[in-house]
Amino acid sequence: MPAIWSSAAFSVPLMLTCWRGSLQYTLSSLRAQSDPEGCGSHSFSGWTQPLGKGNPLRIALIGAGRVAATHAAVLRRTPGVDVIAVADPRGEAAHQLAAEFGAGAFTSLAQVLDSVPVDAVDIMVPHNLHHSLAKEALNAGVHVFMDKPIASTVPQARELCDIARRKDRVLAICHNLLFHPALQRTVEVIETGMLGRVTSATAWSSGWLDLAPWDFRLDKDATGGGAWVDGAPHLVYVLEACLGQIEKLQAILPQSSSRLGAEDTAVGQALFNSGAVATISVGYSDCPSGPDTDWPEGWRLGVNLIGTEGRLALDFLPRAQLTWQTKGQAERLEPLWNVPFDAGFEGAFSDFAAAVKGESTLRVRPEDSLRNLELIKSANDQ
Ligand SMILES: NC(=O)c1ccc[n+]([C@@H]2O[C@H](COP(=O)([O-])OP(=O)(O)OC[C@H]3O[C@@H](n4cnc5c(N)ncnc54)[C@H](O)[C@@H]3O)[C@@H](O)[C@H]2O)c1
Repeated sequence: MPAIWSSAAFSVPLMLTCWRGSLQYTLSSLRAQSDPEGCGSHSFSGWTQPLGKGNPLRIALIGAGRVAATHAAVLRRTPGVDVIAVADPRGEAAHQLAAEFGAGAFTSLAQVLDSVPVDAVDIMVPHNLHHSLAKEALNAGVHVFMDKPIASTVPQARELCDIARRKDRVLAICHNLLFHPALQRTVEVIETGMLGRVTSATAWSSGWLDLAPWDFRLDKDATGGGAWVDGAPHLVYVLEACLGQIEKLQAILPQSSSRLGAEDTAVGQALFNSGAVATISVGYSDCPSGPDTDWPEGWRLGVNLIGTEGRLALDFLPRAQLTWQTKGQAERLEPLWNVPFDAGFEGAFSDFAAAVKGESTLRVRPEDSLRNLELIKSANDQ
């Protein structure tokens, strides 16, 4: 049975102002609890306000690159969230983004933790820094929302899961497409049985990525690979939402010329427990919309599903829509053109915030992101 849930955040605005009594703690007590092994080195002690009813969630943005603009747009329209700091070693980028929120600008997470009282961080940095920065924040008693992947290596990811559990902090990885209404609708259609048994799928993420001189994808070590480790995680969790668990995943990663530090084009093949099969294609140097049209506006992102009774095409980008057809019926188009692409990010952040408030448990648990990384890495290593 596919695992999916509704994106409440898309239809219902976040109500972060209604903090629950269960979060009546102070940052200084958190810091005291969080450092039994002496692994946190931060000393900020100016926090006296309890994280309770009426108090906003104070958050720092760590990383001010490409995806930070998308996260920032979502947080800007989210009630009950106060972006109070932005950190990036590219000081000018930190200043620019911080100015949009009237927030403080810093050049590192350590500076933020030493200077301002944050309840949570939103980490959007090169992959090889995910483990160390998330660990630093969790050890300082701060909740962590982080863009994918959970870490560069499986042991690092396991360690983050352990630390979050031990410190009793929320660690949520942004699997944004899982919260996109177009995927929710697709799963509803599958569950009606109208497509019959889904036997195969094709998933793609394709476009021309504009690469700034500082883009971490130019550095293979910072990315932990190329287009596969960067783009395939999304397609893998989307396919598992539609078809159930993947049993085996293989990737073909060309060694030929590339605009990235490693391959800029990759394909994968998946076998599911159900017996279904899928192909996955990721291309960062494809120009379907012209070479200067960057992510997300110029992107093509979607999945085709073929079943014994019908077929369905799900597009997230360039605009959200479903096209599906069952035996003997005319093709149906369901436009979701008013759904912005960042609705998925909104849903993912809502999931995180609700868990921080103690209102619900995480829908994307750190262990789910660990499994996603294990699959991606297992395909990579073959
Ligand atoms: N969910 C999605 O659809 C999606 C889309 C794009 C990127 N991402 C993810 O977001 C993350 C960032 O990607 P991006 O495209 O924004 O990359 P980017 O290269 O555009 O930006 C990364 C930023 O991190 C900064 N940085 C480097 N070291 C830092 C440090 N120690 N502290 C703070 N900031 C630091 C860099 O200066 C840069 O501004 C990656 O994990 C990527 O996989 C997710």
